[in-house]
Amino acid sequence: MTEIRTDRLLLRRWRDADREPFAALNADPVVMEHLLGPMTRDRSDAFVDRIVAQWDERGWGLWAVEVPGVAAFIGYVGLWPADDVIGRPAVEVGWRQARQHWGHGYVTEGAGHALRYGFETVGLTEIVSFTVPQNERSWRVMVRIGMVRDPSGDFDHPRIDPEKYPDMVRHVLYRLGRDSWRSSVARGRAANGLSRR
Ligand SMILES: CC(C)(COP(=O)(O)OP(=O)(O)OC[C@H]1O[C@@H](n2cnc3c(N)ncnc32)[C@H](O)[C@@H]1OP(=O)(O)O)[C@@H](O)C(=O)NCCC(=O)NCCS
Repeated sequence: MTEIRTDRLLLRRWRDADREPFAALNADPVVMEHLLGPMTRDRSDAFVDRIVAQWDERGWGLWAVEVPGVAAFIGYVGLWPADDVIGRPAVEVGWRQARQHWGHGYVTEGAGHALRYGFETVGLTEIVSFTVPQNERSWRVMVRIGMVRDPSGDFDHPRIDPEKYPDMVRHVLYRLGRDSWRSSVARGRAANGLSRR
């Protein structure tokens, strides 16, 4: 598994010690407001198991995010298969972070490097991201890293029960193609999350 150092972050492999702080953020109702509510410890641990398996199977996935000198673990950022959600071959860039670390641009910075890894190392030609329209913090990250909303791609999430969660079904889709990403990076836009390097 590739580890990545950015200006402020270390995107690294998961450790057993991450399970406890990950379970704590997954149990936070504010963090989980747009993600169908808090998770139990068992479900959180099962998610870590899937993340580790995903790296082993594909050589890409969700990194554990460390802020050296600040916090050993603040959440995750990275790439995840979205074929079953979108209904066609697709890879999503995604993120989740403990609430006390919001507002520093860490996710934008990490996601910018996840895009670079996806396009340059994995060889993807497109990366998508999606959320419910009311998850403004999340779609603002998408905009900051140069993704563009495709209203024709808005969709009903196939795994969300409309009876139980009527406000969580409709999702907005953002996309970024490798060529657009390359030209945006070449123009030196700070917006790619790659910033000062
Ligand atoms: C979505 C989520 C990851 C966004 O976190 P965030 O802290 O808002 O995102 P960033 O780390 O990119 O930080 C951006 C904020 O930091 C500020 N900031 C400070 N320094 C910055 C810097 N160097 N670079 C960029 N932004 C910076 C920005 O102005 C912005 O603040 P604002 O929203 O008040 O304008 C977070 O809210 C979260 O974990 N939510 C719960 C899980 C979730 O919904 N995941 C997505 C599911 S689709």
